[in-house]
Amino acid sequence: MTSATSLLGALADVGADRVRGGYSRHGFDRVDVELREWFTAEAGARGLGVETDRNGNLWAWWGAPGPNAVVTGSHLDSVPGGGAFDGPLGVVSALAAVDALRAQGFRPARPLAVVVFAEEEGGRFGVPCLGSRLLAGTLDADRARELKDPDGTTLAEAVRAAGLDPRWLGPEPDLLSLVGCFVELHVEQGRGLVDLDAPVGVASSILAHGRWRLTFHGEGNHAGATPLADRCDPMMPAASLVLAARRAAGSVPGARATVGRLVPTPGGTNVIPSTVDVWLDARAPGDADTRRVVDDVVAAAHEAAEAEGCTVTVREESYGDTVVFDSGLRDELAGVLGGVPALPTGAGHDAGVLAQRIPTAMLFVRNPTGVSHAPAEHAEAADCESGVSALARVLAHLAGSPC
Ligand code: GLV
Ligand code: MN
Ligand code: MN
Repeated sequence: MTSATSLLGALADVGADRVRGGYSRHGFDRVDVELREWFTAEAGARGLGVETDRNGNLWAWWGAPGPNAVVTGSHLDSVPGGGAFDGPLGVVSALAAVDALRAQGFRPARPLAVVVFAEEEGGRFGVPCLGSRLLAGTLDADRARELKDPDGTTLAEAVRAAGLDPRWLGPEPDLLSLVGCFVELHVEQGRGLVDLDAPVGVASSILAHGRWRLTFHGEGNHAGATPLADRCDPMMPAASLVLAARRAAGSVPGARATVGRLVPTPGGTNVIPSTVDVWLDARAPGDADTRRVVDDVVAAAHEAAEAEGCTVTVREESYGDTVVFDSGLRDELAGVLGGVPALPTGAGHDAGVLAQRIPTAMLFVRNPTGVSHAPAEHAEAADCESGVSALARVLAHLAGSPC
């Protein structure tokens, strides 16, 4: 039997980012392929039958694939310079929970699967939950095939290089119809469980959230030879947008807006950029509030662009409305775990995508730093084992009797 932390330890060097710190593991890149091979080997060593679906998600089946399956898992990719736990903790905990159940002599009465979703963070192609959205049919496959990474490689080219046929990308209703319920274990991305003094909790909801790409178009020129009055510098409205985002979110209760990625082209110290791409991440408790924040930012972007003699184009890259997890399943699982607390999250998850189609729940494991998407993300070994034991109990409960 293995512990979650020993399994995580096996991944300690895979995708370690020597420049940013933490991990950079992105969908279908060399590191991701290594992680997928690792998972396939670990699942195979447990006698699980591993299949890759049409969208590059990995499914490891305990028993023959079939209807009313109980599915657990998460993702192995990361944000640039991310922590060790966001995603991998759910995958290794699922494997460790299978070990624990086997050691108890448990035999599932329903098919049970461990899934690894592809490119959950959208760190390479910009759209989060890429694999689960394609699976569920909430992302158009033609659009997905054309998504480009920062080097200009399309998703179609990337999946082909990873051994998949890009023509296969798209909804898989037959596979999804086998899933009776999905449970994702995840490190908590805040201090909710620290404040509640609990190692494990269940999720109640996810904020509405999305990504918008605003491209400011100006005139590329020389940093020394161009007088200020003669410039159409797209970095000026881009800077205004960053401030407008904070202002707009600050005026809506519970809203957040972030600019974590700003890309000037061509990107030279002594070059006035010709364009600047600004990626806006906006979130709020509801759809209307999220849209209000984005509308305010976009209005400010247009005004600032005009003032500099620039133009701006706006593209919604992804969007997901508020998720309220199935309250029956949530309460049932909290009860199985002896009344653990339920808490909301501002982070997006594949579970949020699946929740639109099937009964879905999440387990959170305490994060003493409360930090996530950064190297300081953490979970103590004892809490990780509490998570494995909670997941094993939940899986035994759900898969223990035929439905
Ligand atoms: C993913 O973790 C997100 O919330 O963006
Ligand atoms: Mn994340
Ligand atoms: Mn995650």
